[in-house]
Amino acid sequence: NKGKYEHYMQKEIHEQPESLTTTMRGRLIRGGSCKAKTVLLGGLKDHLKTIRRSRRIVFIGCGTSYNAALAARPILEELSGIPVTMEIASDLLDRQGPIYREDTAVFVSQSGETADTLNALEYALENGALCVGITNTVGSAIARNTHCGVHINAGCEIGVASTKAYTSQIVVMAMLAIAIGADAISNQERREAIIDGLFDLPNKVREVLKLDQEMKDLAKLLIAEQSLLMFGRGYNYATALEAALKVKEVALMHSEGILAGEMKHGPLALVDENLPILVIATRDGCFSKQQSVIQQLHARKGRLVVMCSKGDAASVSVGGSSRVFEVPQVEDCLQPVVNIVPLQLLAYHLTVLRGFNVDQPRNLAKSVTTE
Ligand code: UD1
Ligand code: BG6
Repeated sequence: NKGKYEHYMQKEIHEQPESLTTTMRGRLIRGGSCKAKTVLLGGLKDHLKTIRRSRRIVFIGCGTSYNAALAARPILEELSGIPVTMEIASDLLDRQGPIYREDTAVFVSQSGETADTLNALEYALENGALCVGITNTVGSAIARNTHCGVHINAGCEIGVASTKAYTSQIVVMAMLAIAIGADAISNQERREAIIDGLFDLPNKVREVLKLDQEMKDLAKLLIAEQSLLMFGRGYNYATALEAALKVKEVALMHSEGILAGEMKHGPLALVDENLPILVIATRDGCFSKQQSVIQQLHARKGRLVVMCSKGDAASVSVGGSSRVFEVPQVEDCLQPVVNIVPLQLLAYHLTVLRGFNVDQPRNLAKSVTTE
């Protein structure tokens, strides 16, 4: 049932304040006056000690689920102190990459049925790793075959392009980071700040959804382009990859997510006055580096669209030539949840304006159950 919406993707983008609330329900504990704020993940509580003892945490997934894990990687490294590595499921299998008994392997999948991810799970189980699932589908193969896990509870997702599952996956992995790091006094303040940020996150997403019309106007400007680059770094490298994936898979436009730190090592050669480039430059530890990236792109006459935090428009628009839009600022590790929303809207409007099928893009399937 699409309700008042024209497409499932549109509905699922707009219901994110609610899906995020459901994802967090019962899992965030704001204690009384002297009780600390904590996270309770029922499916993991008996396994946290084993996870804390692991030598490495390895995230495994495909497509949007992989991008969600990439968004959560920095906060998991920070709060757990454990090295976190990333694997695209098919690539791990192609290489038969090393997985050890001392590893915690985390399988991220909306459907819980993706063949590549399932095969990688079988491989990790054979190699003796602790296997943790993060999935939206109760009773799915990944939920059944992992040792333990967390259901993201985002509700049924029908649009082939994943939207609300992505933001809920990030939130679950941020909660996972807090749960794993909960035995360290040293980062208690940081954990509590993130918990406060999580409580307020649905409101911030509601606020950023108001950019709908602005994203439609931006889509109108980009409708006939051949290509669109997305520059991000740090917490928002994943946002750039995920935004590019959305534009590719539904709007059928070439788009590439680029790690801004790699700009000088190749992508800079593409910059001219024609190619549109979207730069994510919201406030975090990388902000000043991202400002200098904007300046360098501007010096090469790049056609820029910049996403920045509220009140920063003047600090990111060099010479007033770029198009800028502002998003609400949240705790740095949660910023990817807010930042992807306008870009989902952009991909949605581009698709409708270009006349393509939003909910079932050509050649793609919601759940890829063959290798
Ligand atoms: C569970 C109940 C929820 C109830 C809550 C009350 C289920 C599915 N969930 O939620 O309805 O409101 O207790 O305390 O009955 N698991 C995996 N792999 C995965 C995902 C989950 O093994 O990929 C396992 C978990 O380790 C856990 C079980 O499935 O044993 C349920 O996980 P989850 O729904 O996340 O647990 P709760 O949030 O505690
Ligand atoms: C398919 C979907 O390719 O599988 C993507 O079209 C999705 O949207 C990917 O991200 C992975 O799916 P899942 O269910 O494992 O998260």
